[in-house]
Amino acid sequence: MTVPAQRHVAASSAPVTDEGSARHRLVDRIRERTARIGIVGLGYVGLPTAVAYADAGFTVVGVDTDAERCAAVGRGDSYIEDVDRGDLRRAREKDRLTAVTALRDAGDLDVVDICVHTPLSDTREPDISAIEAVGEALVACQRPGQLVVLTSTSYPGTTEEVLRPILERSGLVIGEDVFLAFAPERIDPANQRFTLRNTPKVVGGVDPVSTELACMVMSTIVDIVVPVSDATTAEMVKVLENTFRMVNIGFANEVAMICRRLGVDVWEVIESAATKPYGFMPFYPGPGVGGHCIPVDPSYLQWKMRNLEYRTRFIDLGDDVNRSMPGYVVQRATDVLNDVSRSLRGSHILLVGIAYKPNVGDIRESPGVEIAEILVKRGAAVRYVDPHVESLTLHDGAALSRVDLSPSVLSESDLVVITTRHDGIDWDLIRESATRVLDTRGVRAARGRADWHTL
Ligand SMILES: NC(=O)c1ccc[n+]([C@@H]2O[C@H](COP(=O)([O-])OP(=O)(O)OC[C@H]3O[C@@H](n4cnc5c(N)ncnc54)[C@H](O)[C@@H]3O)[C@@H](O)[C@H]2O)c1
Repeated sequence: MTVPAQRHVAASSAPVTDEGSARHRLVDRIRERTARIGIVGLGYVGLPTAVAYADAGFTVVGVDTDAERCAAVGRGDSYIEDVDRGDLRRAREKDRLTAVTALRDAGDLDVVDICVHTPLSDTREPDISAIEAVGEALVACQRPGQLVVLTSTSYPGTTEEVLRPILERSGLVIGEDVFLAFAPERIDPANQRFTLRNTPKVVGGVDPVSTELACMVMSTIVDIVVPVSDATTAEMVKVLENTFRMVNIGFANEVAMICRRLGVDVWEVIESAATKPYGFMPFYPGPGVGGHCIPVDPSYLQWKMRNLEYRTRFIDLGDDVNRSMPGYVVQRATDVLNDVSRSLRGSHILLVGIAYKPNVGDIRESPGVEIAEILVKRGAAVRYVDPHVESLTLHDGAALSRVDLSPSVLSESDLVVITTRHDGIDWDLIRESATRVLDTRGVRAARGRADWHTL
């Protein structure tokens, strides 16, 4: 870990001199764990954050417009794979976590952490309407000594240019009466090694006091807090991280196409290059990028830059390559079938893995879903295997059949397409019982009878 030690702000070390001020009162409440914390948006990010604050000793009120999610929290039922039911129940039993559907019912809050979704619109433009809606609701609930933290990922400038003007309508002065910061989340669903606690958190306030207070509250749930100059810097840090990943995956996808033309195995090339102990970082090709972050966040930056009349060439190219991948996979499937005199239309295709990444049930922006859509449109008979995705409805409203992996399911399929590499899938069974396989995830044939093809 290269974060300088002096940048870690611990709750006990925050310098506070102006006794009696809004800031001072908030510092005391954070130190004494008497601060009431509101988490707005109880999804993949908000729910674990709410549980973490409850675990740190705070009284937490979750706010989510989804009444079912609030009811589940009330029962102590976790609907997010990474949130342990036991942790949620413990928070409930200690009366440290409740959930309501509207901010106005949350009572007096010292800290409000906004964790609502930030998707793309149909025209792939940022849709920050949920952030704006929370801001509007907050105007009526603000009071001196309140800290508002935006956690939702958005384009650089959102905190200063969008949220700040909305909050200022309360008449309270930001930096004196109330405080505002951006502190992006780095939660990686299903990652057992890096959790909310041991993943450093970047924090940028709209002024130094806001930064200090946000660092202080964050340091109660994460080990290392990294303060940066301002909110816009913190926003840029977040989009850089995800754009870096998206561009590099795009490059790995292009390398896969290069390797195919050279007749070499792309996985062997990348894994061998990764033995270099410096100056190389492996990224792997696949059927495209999915989830709420990697395909979405770079588009937020592209949009912002378009408004500033700057063309983001690397980002545009990476995005272009990644978005072409589902179509490329279908073309590869068509070619593999063509080689044995079969057409895609009428072929039985089994997709292995529909979630966007291993060991999660999240299908948002999943390339597996897009591949299924294209295959069905072209007349293939498609079924899928995914232990984490119980059902899948395509755009036309038709349900895709889910099956369990078995020798007969495999042998009945003209082609098996591996789209997600979940743990627990019996790859040897696929190697032995499938007739032909298109492997987009580097599972590799090893030995076995199946006719094995890669990207
Ligand atoms: N999922 C991840 O792995 C991840 C990782 C890092 C950052 N992020 C970012 O965190 C943010 C949240 O992502 P998520 O995956 O948790 O989203 P999510 O869709 O799982 O959860 C968002 C929740 O907000 C609720 N909501 C929407 N509008 C609301 C409103 N006005 N008031 C109260 N609740 C409202 C929704 O009902 C939903 O439960 C996004 O900006 C995302 O980009 C996500």
